[in-house]
Amino acid sequence: GKTIRVALLGCGTVGSEVARLLTEQADELAARAGAPVELAGIAVRRPDKHPELPQHLLTSDAAALVESDVDVVVELIGGIEPVQTWLLTALRKGKSVVTANKALLSEHSAELFEAADASGADLYFEAAVAGAIPLLRPLRESLAGDRITKVMGIVNGTTNFILSAMDSTGAGYAETLEEASRLGYAEADPTADVDGYDAAAKAAILASLAFHSRVTASDVHREGIAGVTASDIAAAKALGRTVKLLAICERVTADDGTESVSARVHPVMIPRSHPLAGVNGAFNAVFVEADAAGELMFYGQGAGGAPTASAVLGDLVAVARNLVVGGRGPRESAHAALPVRPMGQT
Ligand code: HSE
Repeated sequence: GKTIRVALLGCGTVGSEVARLLTEQADELAARAGAPVELAGIAVRRPDKHPELPQHLLTSDAAALVESDVDVVVELIGGIEPVQTWLLTALRKGKSVVTANKALLSEHSAELFEAADASGADLYFEAAVAGAIPLLRPLRESLAGDRITKVMGIVNGTTNFILSAMDSTGAGYAETLEEASRLGYAEADPTADVDGYDAAAKAAILASLAFHSRVTASDVHREGIAGVTASDIAAAKALGRTVKLLAICERVTADDGTESVSARVHPVMIPRSHPLAGVNGAFNAVFVEADAAGELMFYGQGAGGAPTASAVLGDLVAVARNLVVGGRGPRESAHAALPVRPMGQT
């Protein structure tokens, strides 16, 4: 039978875990996929900095690796260019793509979906939102027969860690952020997390899938947690509430019956009895409402090498299975895109 040849672009925290699992669990993955899944090459910026990896697989030429005899491109570099060019090239040539790139998907999903659907290639990106939590494929596949009305959740672990700590210690924002950085829960530059950019990118991806729309990060109303004070938290507590940074994506129906999508990210005081209130520390959780299914909740680790690698490997097995049977995963460009509600209108 066929061997599925995989190009890995990027080998940082998540990529090295993917490479390790692909090698160590090769037999199990082959059994689940229905064909051997083989690492054909790993593109890294500096091959000499990776003595731990099989040297014959390393290259600094990602473009050439994408063009070589590979069936699937797994992209774990991040950012828009040059990654977008490589992934569009792969998709146009009918090579399937697995990526964790939330920046790219939250800005250019339309081009990527069109390229994938034109060639019949697969585009999977479970790891781009909420790490290990199976969420995107449930939205795209399990709930494909339902009508989703709302997706709301905690999709940024850093800010959830900070807000949880403020709630339990009564400390202020600046002090708690400093502690989070010291413990390694916040990045050296925490701007993307604390100002809500990371959550807004994830909200754009969730809204696009849930509502078959084309929401970009700039369509998402965004407010971060830098303005949340110890007295806000204390006031919330006195009301039996807690403060969470939520991404909220909704299907909105106007008086004349026309539908649109609204997406926003901001701190919310939620009742302590709400299921999202009990989500503490660096965990993520997403609440979904659909007409027939009712309420669903997804919970787990939203970041980290191994949890994120789990999502990447799951996508890779799905892609491999599709290649084995000559099928493909969900199409996105076929949908009549639901319009995005302009910001400012609520
Ligand atoms: N900085 C992100 C977070 C990482 O804190 O959730 C996962 O995307």
